[in-house]
Amino acid sequence: MYTVPKLTDFSPAALDHAVRELLSALEQESAAVASENDWKVFRDRWMARKNGVLTQLNDLWLKAAPKDAKREVGQRVNEVKAKVSDVVEKRRIKRIFVAATDSFEFSDSVSVEVRRVDVTLPGIRRPLGAEHPVIKTMNEMVGVFRNLGYSVEEGPEIETDYYNFEALNFPPNHPARDTQDTLFIAGQESKPQRDRLLLRTHTSPVQIRSMEKMKPPLRVVCPGKVHRNDAPDATHSPIFHQVEGLAVDTNITFCDLKGTLDHAMKALFGSSVKTRFYPSFFPFTEPSADVQISCIFCGGTGTRDGAPCRNCKASGWIELLGCGMVDPNVYGFVDYDPAKVSGFAFGMGVERIAILKYGVDDIQLFFNGDVRFLEQFA
Ligand code: DAH
Repeated sequence: MYTVPKLTDFSPAALDHAVRELLSALEQESAAVASENDWKVFRDRWMARKNGVLTQLNDLWLKAAPKDAKREVGQRVNEVKAKVSDVVEKRRIKRIFVAATDSFEFSDSVSVEVRRVDVTLPGIRRPLGAEHPVIKTMNEMVGVFRNLGYSVEEGPEIETDYYNFEALNFPPNHPARDTQDTLFIAGQESKPQRDRLLLRTHTSPVQIRSMEKMKPPLRVVCPGKVHRNDAPDATHSPIFHQVEGLAVDTNITFCDLKGTLDHAMKALFGSSVKTRFYPSFFPFTEPSADVQISCIFCGGTGTRDGAPCRNCKASGWIELLGCGMVDPNVYGFVDYDPAKVSGFAFGMGVERIAILKYGVDDIQLFFNGDVRFLEQFA
């Protein structure tokens, strides 16, 4: 019976020889398997965690190898492991197949396990997976801006107070922070406030990280996951996604912002959609605006089938995203000269856009993992 030899010579030729011996023993023992019990013994002898041949390879070959041979030995051991598990598994299937075929003649002498196998049944079809509707929508949004020449930047989901707030012109203890329902990481009290960790509440910190990394002119979109301390209901989820945008150059105006977002909304919702910019406030933009689109359910009329449209509360408009001209204070944090450059930024919720695009009535459907819902987007 084959036993794993202790290696002393680790030259490629000696390794090849040792591997060949092992594989030929494997083939021989595999060929000798006749019953289910044989197969189990065979499997354990080669693959048992405790003292199986593969485990011994780790000890007798890999651990014993001198430093400069480790790589070479490691590679062989991995190849041998793959081969052994392949042979063992194929042997199992072959044995069941043979036993099942035999069972047509000896049907009451074979085990239940074997009688269940009906080799005349058609194979199992593996359904193709599909992109999740949230990711699909996010990619589509990013695609609109990529087509305009924007590059894609990502940032961490666990952020510091500095990037999530301070550098975005939310001063410490300013009430504007309250609007963000932040989830803080515990045990950060001993750090200076700016270094304390939290789950990012928006993708806006990636604006700061991008400007630290790159000089103007700059056009970036930043897709990603964000977190807020919100109880889940039909329109809220503590985890959701945003796509952030930032363009900084000389002479960027509010007109550029309007043209860009009007184009983006038409690209996402169809060319007949109208946009309107409604005054708002964000600490990192001045002026700031909310963008509304004409209601895609009632065509902006406010009535549908003779009744007030429920989707836009009969107003004809649906609020979709926040935007504005980058506040000069923000440039101070990233060493851009506010006298030389100007820019705009925007941030939009991916689920919100997916809900409108697909007519979904409950945000939770995106997160419950029910295949009957998800497969409709395949
Ligand atoms: N970060 C904001 C939020 O999640 C959204 C936002 C508003 C992003 C205005 C922007 C912007 O870039 O300019 O509440």
